[in-house]
Amino acid sequence: MQITFSAAALPKSGAIVIPVFEDGGKPKAYADLDKATDGALERAVKSADFKGKKGKAVDVVAPAGLGNSRIILVGAGDSKNFSALEAETLGGAAAGRLLSGADKSAVFALSGLTVKKLPADELAAHMANGARLKCYRFDKYRTKEKKEDKPVLNKITVSTSSTKAKELYADLEKVSDGVFLTRDLVSEPANILYPDSFAKRCKELEKLGLKVTVLTEAQMKKLGMGSLLGVAQGSVREPKLVAMEWMGGKKGDAPVAFVGKGVTFDTGGISLKSAPGMEDMKWDMGGAGAVTGAMAAIAGRKAKANVVGVIGLVENMPDGNAQRPGDVVTSMSGQTIEVLNTDAEGRLVLADAMWWTQETYKPKTVIDLATLTGAIIVSLAHEFGGLFTKDDKLAKQLDAAGEASGDKLWRMPLTQAHDEMIKSDIADMQNIGGKGGGSSTAAAFLARFIKEDVSWAHLDIAGMAWTTKDKPTCPKGGSGFGVRLLDEFVRENCES
Ligand code: BES
Ligand code: MN
Ligand code: ZN
Repeated sequence: MQITFSAAALPKSGAIVIPVFEDGGKPKAYADLDKATDGALERAVKSADFKGKKGKAVDVVAPAGLGNSRIILVGAGDSKNFSALEAETLGGAAAGRLLSGADKSAVFALSGLTVKKLPADELAAHMANGARLKCYRFDKYRTKEKKEDKPVLNKITVSTSSTKAKELYADLEKVSDGVFLTRDLVSEPANILYPDSFAKRCKELEKLGLKVTVLTEAQMKKLGMGSLLGVAQGSVREPKLVAMEWMGGKKGDAPVAFVGKGVTFDTGGISLKSAPGMEDMKWDMGGAGAVTGAMAAIAGRKAKANVVGVIGLVENMPDGNAQRPGDVVTSMSGQTIEVLNTDAEGRLVLADAMWWTQETYKPKTVIDLATLTGAIIVSLAHEFGGLFTKDDKLAKQLDAAGEASGDKLWRMPLTQAHDEMIKSDIADMQNIGGKGGGSSTAAAFLARFIKEDVSWAHLDIAGMAWTTKDKPTCPKGGSGFGVRLLDEFVRENCES
């Protein structure tokens, strides 16, 4: 999708999109086009009883007196509190309508459109960004799609007189590039994306200025990562640990670290999952995908912050060499773990990945992202990522980043009681709790691998990494959840 900004007059062909607010706010083009069409816009609005409500739209098709294919009036809702996120939803809604039509190009007519709390250039930039996010497609494996089923829209021009919009958009574009990378990674099937091929994709990010290090199985063995390696041992695919460094901040300042669960396929191992829906476990690397996309975003826009992204990549398979329920493994931290369920593998991977991250980078803050538990979907459905932390300040910062980015979080309990539920009879801990509170006992497990002076939060994104429904700025499939959240967190709290 090509997106450009222009202050020139509206074109004489293609589609024109016009936002309309409930309280009457419209761009200048509305009156001009209504006049040019001898009142067609007003007649269409009346006959459709269109009041500018969010989610509503009216198409004025083949307007007489104009060469344009259609004029789309999109409802923008209430202008008083109209936010950057709402501008994105609006852009996404417009793009959604355009994608199902036959127009190759469209113009968003925004000149003269003003709202109270969002400057015109931000409105324009975010509307364009929302449209781009909506137009994402993962279609590389479709070789026989009929031409008429493929969207043809390839160019959006944002007509605005504000000069800063283009510059703002260029910054947002880098973040959306990160979102797209995550969507790509999450969408790939597990025969294509496995630890080694995932690590190679990370290596490609060196072109953005990231320093990328890949640890092999032999190196991890030497480091004593028995917890991560125990998960990987049933697979013919070699595990990898990838670190991506962006040191754009003050030299010597402790970095913030993002750590991602990268189980490229989770069969459950010997505690095998049942067949229905198991294909979903190709996206059990959603945490690692989000961390990778966030690092691409942060490097892409050259953030003035020190950030490291670490991902633990393994495949969880049942096999003659797979780990068994009851096995005891020794993690890099020295703590021993009784593996009572081989399907609670994400925490085993994160335990060593997080420990290594702390030893290697001495971060002041660690945030891990993982498609960790089915239980978080029971609690929060597909509306929020679960936020677990003992640090109230970090909770506030992440919550605010969630609200601003649209990647929303809901804080969940993490207490001493949950920690007691993972006591083992024969080792330092077991990898599952008892009945109930499965997301919190998983978090309590992870907490045991965080050093005392480190501020830490765990984000359980099992309900968010994938969407089975089309959303305003995201087609169904991999969502890219977490990229914008982490980028926003860095912008607000880590940049100098
Ligand atoms: N990858 C799954 C969690 C998951 C479930 C992610 C559904 C996305 C959608 C995780 O490894 C897992 O299997 N968790 C178990 C833990 C249990 C064995 C304690 C679960 O949630 O059932
Ligand atoms: Mn599992
Ligand atoms: Zn898993």
